[in-house]
Amino acid sequence: MSDVSHKTVLSGIQPTGDIHFGNYFGAIKNWEKLQAQYKCYYSVVDYHAMTMPFTPSVLRNNTWEIVINLLAIGINPENLFIQSLVPEHAELTWIFNCYCSYGQLMRMTQFKDKTSQLKEGQKDDYISVALLDYPVLQAADVLIYKADLVPVGKDQEQHLELTRDIAQRFNFQVGKEYFSLPEPLFTETPKIRSTADPSRKMSKSAGEKHYINLFADETTIRRQIKSAVTDTGQNPGTSMAEGVQNLFELIKASENVQAYDALLQNYHQGSLKYVDLKEATADSLIATNAPFLQKKSELVANKKQIKDEIKSSSAAIRRVAQETLKEVKELVGLLNVKY
Ligand code: TRP
Repeated sequence: MSDVSHKTVLSGIQPTGDIHFGNYFGAIKNWEKLQAQYKCYYSVVDYHAMTMPFTPSVLRNNTWEIVINLLAIGINPENLFIQSLVPEHAELTWIFNCYCSYGQLMRMTQFKDKTSQLKEGQKDDYISVALLDYPVLQAADVLIYKADLVPVGKDQEQHLELTRDIAQRFNFQVGKEYFSLPEPLFTETPKIRSTADPSRKMSKSAGEKHYINLFADETTIRRQIKSAVTDTGQNPGTSMAEGVQNLFELIKASENVQAYDALLQNYHQGSLKYVDLKEATADSLIATNAPFLQKKSELVANKKQIKDEIKSSSAAIRRVAQETLKEVKELVGLLNVKY
């Protein structure tokens, strides 16, 4: 264990239902790997999920569903916690609200995007204060564990920048270098596209045919890949069509090196058959998710035990958060008592 770094990693995922292959290859696979190298905290961020219109029963079900999915993929239970079981995140958010300017939050790209999504939706055009405050909660998630590294996608870069600004302002105001500034951890990850429309990325928000569930059964995967769009009619002959590229990307991400090399050679020789490419893609995805499906069925059979386990890991992680919050309250002039 001597090569294990002492650095701390934190990341969060919203409990919004299915994990798809894009999420897996783009982020969660990396989460799993990082565990061997760092002290990792992975949070199912249910408080964040309340910032857009939501249904209570769906929120609770999705929270447990994603816990089970993450465990099936290989996240260690002791690294995993549910955000709302560590209510100190919310308390630290309040304190950080006092060290973050309203103007800066208004300028967040994600806030602007989500606000316009809500306005387009018409029925649900309610924009909560929490949606504006979302990045401050994210800053609390990171800083409460004094995380050094935050594995995030490029879309979260601005939020991490804000986290650093809050930490700096806090340090300046209390006159002490209390928080160190966390760094983003960008890793080389493949960009997976929708197989139904390769001009857009694989995502749930675009609708069912635009993502392949990581826990889909063999038949569903074969069906979805079979109907994958290959020729989009753009740039005929000049470069590999996006849809074809995407299937290659999926094979590569699945680490099916042999198939990848052979098919790519066919492509360059002009002898590639799309049926073969699709079959290899489906085979690769099925090989990737087979162990997850197996593990998931075991976990589902022990749901009660899993829930208890995650409640106690959350309680253990909470102690770290409580320690930070105590120090923060001391620094800002709030009181601490033992209840
Ligand atoms: N905002 C992140 C997302 O939508 C999720 C998230 C919440 C997060 N808290 C975090 C990511 C802390 C990294 C660190 O993807």
